[in-house]
Amino acid sequence: MSIAPGDTIGILGGGQLGRMLALAAARLGLKAHIFAPEADSPAFDVTPLQTQAAYNDREALARFASQVAVVTYEFENIPAATATLLTNWRPVFPTADALAVTQDRLSEKAFVGSLGIATAPYVGVDDAGSLARAVAQIGRPAILKTRRFGYDGKGQAFIREGSDLGSAFRSLGAAPCILEGVVPFVREISVVAARGQDGSFAAYDVCANEHVQHVLSRCAVPASLSPDTAGQALEIARCIATKLQYVGILAVEMFVVDDPRVGPLVNEIAPRVHNSAHWTIDGAATSQFEQHIRAICGWPLGSTRRHGSIEMRNLLGEEVSQWRDLLSREGACVHLYGKREVRPGRKMGHVTVVGTENPPVETSGSGQN
Ligand SMILES: Nc1ncnc2c1ncn2[C@@H]1O[C@H](COP(=O)(O)OP(=O)(O)O)[C@@H](O)[C@H]1O
Ligand SMILES: [Mg+2]
Repeated sequence: MSIAPGDTIGILGGGQLGRMLALAAARLGLKAHIFAPEADSPAFDVTPLQTQAAYNDREALARFASQVAVVTYEFENIPAATATLLTNWRPVFPTADALAVTQDRLSEKAFVGSLGIATAPYVGVDDAGSLARAVAQIGRPAILKTRRFGYDGKGQAFIREGSDLGSAFRSLGAAPCILEGVVPFVREISVVAARGQDGSFAAYDVCANEHVQHVLSRCAVPASLSPDTAGQALEIARCIATKLQYVGILAVEMFVVDDPRVGPLVNEIAPRVHNSAHWTIDGAATSQFEQHIRAICGWPLGSTRRHGSIEMRNLLGEEVSQWRDLLSREGACVHLYGKREVRPGRKMGHVTVVGTENPPVETSGSGQN
């Protein structure tokens, strides 16, 4: 089925990512229908087409599918069964298969490893006994993470010398987990890229990411990497997207270590638009949100050309109270998500500044389509 302006995109999830996807769809003459369980979903504010229902509400999903031309999602924690069910009625991009691999940290790591790409050392953990064996194998310190449903550092426990393993496992609800060795990274980076239905591929320049208490705080592009490392990071993203036969935007989070013989290690894959590419709204020829819409509609991908050097800061929790001051800053592009409740670490908005420095060396050959 070919999709044209005037058609409706279905989006599962009503957070700020769904909101920015709906706004990008509107710019392309498309309508957006948001399906989300929470009444106060920020994405509900920007489109009249909405369904408030649970992700396992089969009737609501069927009705939703009948009202949209294509389905996508704003986060990977929707049940894979929901994506599979919707596939009976409408195209779903990224596919339910890509979602299944990337929403489980264990299958994701196994998949990345099968491509010959490095990750942190890891072992699956199903119970307290296997956690003890895993710690013996990986050593301390290590990070215990739930296989599913983690985000912004939620669902993680740090295992130090002397940490009690039983209580660490119980603190994560005794859910199936993965134990990872701690990577001594010097920098965290991400590659956000799109793959089209025709196999076309377009990556944005590599972004350097700083986290505060596991939540993304600041992004900078260029990431000031060696051209070699930047090239390897882009190639990793391309390889992953190709092997998943991916359609849409995906983000690959990576660690860079202080050893020129070791390439970037993949931390996780996000099968969706990603916080580390919010800068593309103001700082690139095509925003990641528009690019995602183009890809899922089977439309040509846009240029990922960057307008200048980028600094993006998240407004976390109370930082959003500075909005009035930020609005009066020269060159600050302020985005507010309209969330009523301010909680510590909650993503309330972001600010992008596009500088006028010369394009960095690493932009050459960076995977433009
Ligand atoms: N194996 C690891 N070694 C070192 N730091 C890690 C490791 N895993 C996670 N971290 C840190 O914790 C942050 C959040 O972990 P991540 O696996 O990306 O989970 P999520 O983003 O889903 O909460 C990472 O961005 C990184 O700063
Ligand atoms: Mg992460």
